[in-house]
Amino acid sequence: MPDTIPSLTDIPYRSQLHPDTIAFLQAQPKQLLIGGKWVPSASGQTFTTYEPSTGQPLAEVYEAQGEDVDRAVAAARAAFERWRKITPHQRERLLHKLADLIEQHTRELAEIETLDNGKPLTAARLVDVPSTVEMFRYYAGWPTKIEGGVKPVSVPNRLNYTLREPVGVVGAIIPWNFPLNMISWKLGPALAAGNCVVLKPAEQTSLSAVRFGELVCEAGFPAGVVNLVNGRGEVTGAALAAHTGVDKIAFTGSMEVGRLILSAAAGNLKRVSLELGGKSPFIIFDDADLRKAAVSAAGSIFGNAGQSCNAGSRLFVQRSAYDQVLDTVTARARAIKVGVGMDAATSMGPLTSLEQLQRINSYLESGRQAGASIRTGAGRPVGVPEGGYFVAPTIFENTREDMAIVREEIFGPVLVAAPFDTLEEVAQRANDTPYGLAAGVWTKDIGRAHKLAGMLQTGTVWVNCYSQFDPASPFGGYKQSGFGRDMGQEALELYTNVKSVWISVD
Ligand code: NAI
Ligand code: MG
Repeated sequence: MPDTIPSLTDIPYRSQLHPDTIAFLQAQPKQLLIGGKWVPSASGQTFTTYEPSTGQPLAEVYEAQGEDVDRAVAAARAAFERWRKITPHQRERLLHKLADLIEQHTRELAEIETLDNGKPLTAARLVDVPSTVEMFRYYAGWPTKIEGGVKPVSVPNRLNYTLREPVGVVGAIIPWNFPLNMISWKLGPALAAGNCVVLKPAEQTSLSAVRFGELVCEAGFPAGVVNLVNGRGEVTGAALAAHTGVDKIAFTGSMEVGRLILSAAAGNLKRVSLELGGKSPFIIFDDADLRKAAVSAAGSIFGNAGQSCNAGSRLFVQRSAYDQVLDTVTARARAIKVGVGMDAATSMGPLTSLEQLQRINSYLESGRQAGASIRTGAGRPVGVPEGGYFVAPTIFENTREDMAIVREEIFGPVLVAAPFDTLEEVAQRANDTPYGLAAGVWTKDIGRAHKLAGMLQTGTVWVNCYSQFDPASPFGGYKQSGFGRDMGQEALELYTNVKSVWISVD
């Protein structure tokens, strides 16, 4: 194994990195966290994580195989017997301590996220890490408030009450677009409810999870409460999803893998919650604040390089406002500074993996071949490093509803825009998709806003705003965008079983 990392010595912004980030990156290969100990994989198998801004290797990571997953699940099961007896107050304190440590290490975590995922450092520092902290703080408040109830049963001389108990061992399988946030969305409620966790990050972005695991240990969580198994989906993820010692899988990722997880879970009928992305409609009526709406539309699809489950990827604008809105969205797209995440001037980084770059490029080609017109973008931006996974913000127009670029989740900075005439028509077109994650509605007509919010088959509707998230508000899908919810009390309940206790009071 090399003791220095090629990309670390070459990269121009190396001198900007926090010394702790450099020290973290130099200790390789990254290990697995099993039963409170950092260990290599039993086989010694490793994989490489790349820096998307340059395409260069960034770190070697041990890959958990089936036997490592077995050990991690066994460690979680053993820890569960102790963890479930820990008082709610102690769980609260541990979660607060973890949130404090994440906050104290914001700069370093943000740098790791930027190097591994590609996103602009300002976004990682000002959004990803702080919102991760807030999620853990929110769920730190819950252990002391998870209540059962006394039920008004009509059976004479019987008392009935309910308890909410943890489900046991949770397998969390998460994607690479918001690695730290996704950890907090799953582990916040899982740990607050008293579960133990085996976390499987995306293989493209394993590093912030390793640093997170170190902070879990520093916070004083008992050994085995949080275990970390890095590795590829078809190896490590598949082993975890099928494991009979796992009581619940919490997953965010593709629809295709969501289906695999659901069938893998059938063996021991484990609980499953799935968040599977979307093709979210962003609907602007001609009476809306058109500038504000257009700026928001651009932000919704080009933020995080379009790699957001809730990206407003289908823009519908009422016909009389169409040209004006498209002019603004196009100007915003062209003004985006695409570049290296560590560069302070960058407003959009690269895509996170070569696989995604190839995927987006094939969608661009398919749009061209299907006859859609390109308003802007659809190529490699100028002035970006050779080897980085960059693509320019792109807008397609003159599309048909049967085109792949209109129907499928592209998961890149690619917008399809179309005019519409009436509310009924746009509701029908917005719903004409297997997805149902989120939607945006822009109008000053309050009746119309409520009417359309009711008609849209999506788990979230944003009116005159977009991409609003808060730990208290549940987020998740209708239709094939999945089921179950992240965040809020709704997510917490999915990490518990309800026990009904009957007492004879004869
Ligand atoms: P993916 O669904 O393959 O990966 C998500 C997670 O699932 C990763 O941790 C991966 O290792 C794991 N995984 C993969 N195969 C698995 C298996 N057989 N069993 C268990 N776990 C498995 O997503 P991928 O391939 O990285 O991206 C493909 C597309 O999926 C994207 O272009 C996008 O459309 C969609 N996606 C949606 C996300 C969302 O936020 N809803 C996040 C990531 C991807
Ligand atoms: Mg995949």
